[in-house]
Amino acid sequence: MEIFEEIEPLRAFLKGKRIASKSIGLVPTMGALHHGHLSLIRASKAENELTVSTIYVNPTQFNNSEDLDKYPRTLEMDTQLLSQEGCDVLFVPTNSEMYSGAQNLAFDFGNLDKVLEGKFRPGHFSGVALVVSKLFNIIQPDRAYFGQKDYQQFQIIHRLKEELKFSLELQSVPIVREDSGLALSSRNQRLDAEGKRKALLLYESLKYASAELLKGIRFDIIRIEVEKRFSQLKGVKLEYFELAHRATLQPLDEADKIGEAIILIAAFVDEVRLIDNMLIDIN
Ligand code: PAJ
Repeated sequence: MEIFEEIEPLRAFLKGKRIASKSIGLVPTMGALHHGHLSLIRASKAENELTVSTIYVNPTQFNNSEDLDKYPRTLEMDTQLLSQEGCDVLFVPTNSEMYSGAQNLAFDFGNLDKVLEGKFRPGHFSGVALVVSKLFNIIQPDRAYFGQKDYQQFQIIHRLKEELKFSLELQSVPIVREDSGLALSSRNQRLDAEGKRKALLLYESLKYASAELLKGIRFDIIRIEVEKRFSQLKGVKLEYFELAHRATLQPLDEADKIGEAIILIAAFVDEVRLIDNMLIDIN
């Protein structure tokens, strides 16, 4: 695996590959890699001749400096995992390589970044869009891979691609879970065994809601029950639990014909903020 820390040598390397007509798949990450990330690498390898992964803990997408400081960093292990998985290129830039130090550009996605994660993490998606734009410009991939785990992020990047006319295909990869159902996340590394057990309440709430909705129960009734379950368990705090339209992510109320929807959840477990979601089809 070739490792680059600087933009220009990476660009020169990729230009050579492009001249040789090699297709390029991009898998952006913030490191602390797990099987969810590795499933993106596998998806890219299946469709491209060259897979480029990036590891960069992007400061502009953290609205909370403590979250940024506590974000797990395991570069040596990550490099080993990527290399075992057959990733061809790893880009690990420094902050000064990615940001000039001047005022950062900002994005506004209208309704799409005012709800869910955007509501609780102001500026987060602007930072994501900024770093992803930079990576698309530097790497110019044919395809870029993102997880369904960060569903709203995928919709934001989709809008970014459409608006800035990036010429690439976006691929969404299903959520990888532990056997227990807990969605894999780099932040799980900050939980002990008891914390991981408590974190199961996120997935269980999604499963419960999905089953109840299919029985015709109203979402506001379901939400009350989920809020009750969270309030009864020590060390957990529900941030949001929403039923939304899959493309616009605007909340769905009972008056809507639900159709293809998504249930999304965010909660703190022992001070660690976790998210999860589940697609649902109600006709
Ligand atoms: P990070 O949280 O490291 O996630 C990198 C990619 O892995 C994202 O596309 C995310 O959706 C995907 N992923 C995480 N957990 C997953 C799981 N359990 N199953 C499947 N895919 C999973 O998302 C980011 O980094 C950053 O915002 C980034 C896009 C790199 C921009 O900084």
